[in-house]
Amino acid sequence: TLEPSSLSGDPRLIVISNRVAVPKARGAAGAQGGLAGALHAALKDRKGLWFGWSGQESESGRTGHIDTQTNDGVTTATIDLSQRDIDEYYTGYANSTLWPLFHYRLDLAEYERETGKGYERVNERFAELSAPLIEPDDVVWIHDYHLIPLGERLRSRGIKNRIGFFLHIPWPPTRLFVSLPYHERLVRTLLYYDVVGFQTQEWLDSFLHYCENELRAEVDETTGQVSFEGRTTFARAYPIGIDWDQFSKLGQTGQARQAQQRLMSSTRRRLAMIGVDRLDYSKGIPERIDGIGRFFDRNPESIKDLVFIQIAPPSREDVESYQAIREELERKCGQINGARSEVDLVPIRYVNRGYSHAELFGFFRGSKIGLVTPLRDGMNLVAKEYVAAQDPEDPGVLILSRFAGAAAQLQDAVLVNPHSPDDIAHAIKTALDMSLAERKRRYEQMVVTVRDDNVQNWTADFLRDLSQPA
Ligand code: F6P
Repeated sequence: TLEPSSLSGDPRLIVISNRVAVPKARGAAGAQGGLAGALHAALKDRKGLWFGWSGQESESGRTGHIDTQTNDGVTTATIDLSQRDIDEYYTGYANSTLWPLFHYRLDLAEYERETGKGYERVNERFAELSAPLIEPDDVVWIHDYHLIPLGERLRSRGIKNRIGFFLHIPWPPTRLFVSLPYHERLVRTLLYYDVVGFQTQEWLDSFLHYCENELRAEVDETTGQVSFEGRTTFARAYPIGIDWDQFSKLGQTGQARQAQQRLMSSTRRRLAMIGVDRLDYSKGIPERIDGIGRFFDRNPESIKDLVFIQIAPPSREDVESYQAIREELERKCGQINGARSEVDLVPIRYVNRGYSHAELFGFFRGSKIGLVTPLRDGMNLVAKEYVAAQDPEDPGVLILSRFAGAAAQLQDAVLVNPHSPDDIAHAIKTALDMSLAERKRRYEQMVVTVRDDNVQNWTADFLRDLSQPA
């Protein structure tokens, strides 16, 4: 079996994803999303290679230049992309078509032929440049919706290695998914992988439903085996986790302690509630602000006792729907603060920047309520980090959307419907009234899951299946 600590004899791992984490990036934890941190953790104990986009624009993307660096035991190989590639593949098809559709937002999904072609062209480019780096015994692990067709592109270049794919975001119900032009073409490419992983059973079920009902593939729901046109793919749920060892140690750092201190002294005995999200419409931030507004409407005196801190680093700013959500949020925060503030008391602090993981640890520990209320989310690691950062003797309460993948595992959170301001307001009241014994009971249940279903076990589970032919 694959033990994280005894991998020296195992094949080399090649990870390919759109985004490659900049080693030791500072101040960006909130902005990076879950993928970068998780993959860094997955690779750091293994001799491996991480291939992807540098995040930079330059015409050298066309010349095939690959920038290679080794840092912290992780070798990264990155390429630049041209402005046209970024517009069509990243801003266009990945983030204006697939992202909204996969998060059940048909109203925001744009279907443009040109961006679809750009998506295929960049996937082909990834295949062309990464294929020469792959040696016969390597195991290849491709990540997320930007690179769904990459496995099939590598196969067409004669790559016979075991290749796995993991989707970090939800998979939509068939009824929604079929609104995508060429949906069948996209799913067919997924069936060139040996293993396809999803965050939860719910997304897996939707995928298998599509394979069986639209593609007429042969599906074995108990084993996740999908047989189609002579090939076999193994589809399974692998809920991602945090790097528990590394994250929980942050509590002992000066940076985390100072951040906690800074937060607590600034609130002056007021109790802090916190939200930390990339500024994305899927995260339900305006809806959360509505819920908080509803709570203050019902409990006007509580602005003396409570402050909400929303950390929201901007994301994908070239996509129109992200510009719109930012404006909406600014307006809502401004309205509530205008209506409810006193000269020395402001109910909502809204911050558009990222913080390091150590600082976030401190902020989470200093906040008695964590609000994680996405309208739809593949997993959501902020929920798990909030739990991991709590003081076991006096833990805070996690308010969690039932539509986050994490809700399937964290049933002892206060679960809410994120679309309902009443539900959120009621959950805040429940959290404030909760006894210490009840807070501890819930925390103790959740922390076991967060600790045991960590990112090392996620990696080991996926790679175990990938390295053993089904
Ligand atoms: O976790 C989902 C995800 O889309 C990752 O694939 C991505 O790296 C992250 O969120 C942050 O988004 P972006 O790379 O577009 O900044």
